[in-house]
Amino acid sequence: MELKQAVGIKAAEYIKDGMIVGLGTGSTAYYFVEEIGRRMKEEGLQIVGVTTSNRTQQQAEGLGIPLKSVDDVERIDVTVDGADEISDDFQGIKGGGGAHLYEKIVADASERVIWIVDESKMVTKLGAFPLPVEVVKYGSKQVFKRLEEKGYHPVFRTQEDQTLYLTDEGNYIIDLHLGVIENPVAMGAELDQMVGVVEHGLFLNRVHTVLIGTSDGVITKEANR
Ligand code: 5RP
Repeated sequence: MELKQAVGIKAAEYIKDGMIVGLGTGSTAYYFVEEIGRRMKEEGLQIVGVTTSNRTQQQAEGLGIPLKSVDDVERIDVTVDGADEISDDFQGIKGGGGAHLYEKIVADASERVIWIVDESKMVTKLGAFPLPVEVVKYGSKQVFKRLEEKGYHPVFRTQEDQTLYLTDEGNYIIDLHLGVIENPVAMGAELDQMVGVVEHGLFLNRVHTVLIGTSDGVITKEANR
């Protein structure tokens, strides 16, 4: 079994009857959502899902998982999502799949956040993975210029046909090729201040549990928050 599938299935063990569950986005979260669908069908598991992208919404609807908008729930019990990089101190980069805005909103409404990754995502320091920054269309070239001047090596994200990638909110993504992020908190604060930036992919102090798929099995790490 693929490592991503193994962690996806393992994460579904955390889900109990009656829970409101945040459903992440990406190729690892995909397996989690599939397993939730299977458990509902075969074991009678009853949950309500809150999706983090149009893609996951379509998948969940196809599996018959009842859904609510994040605005229609008081709190989410558990959110299970993937990640692009996780450092030793449990900080993360997300947004490789372009969904980090909704993912962060759903994470922040959750009592518990579980990230599911294969071992290739575990790093000492963040930054080798390009940091996604979602920006509004208006003035996006100005934001790009400022990021360039700061030496952050920005690149507008494109689709296969070379047109600009659009998020579910209709915004652009600028990926920052930083190599290493020595101070993720300072970097996040700087991006938070920039006009035109909607949300960046630094997820700081947000995860509670990390499930890592390795060739020797799934390893669980607790962030002790
Ligand atoms: C989407 C994300 C994904 O969770 C992240 O990109 C990991 O994806 P995958 O499991 O496909 O490697 O943040 O915005």
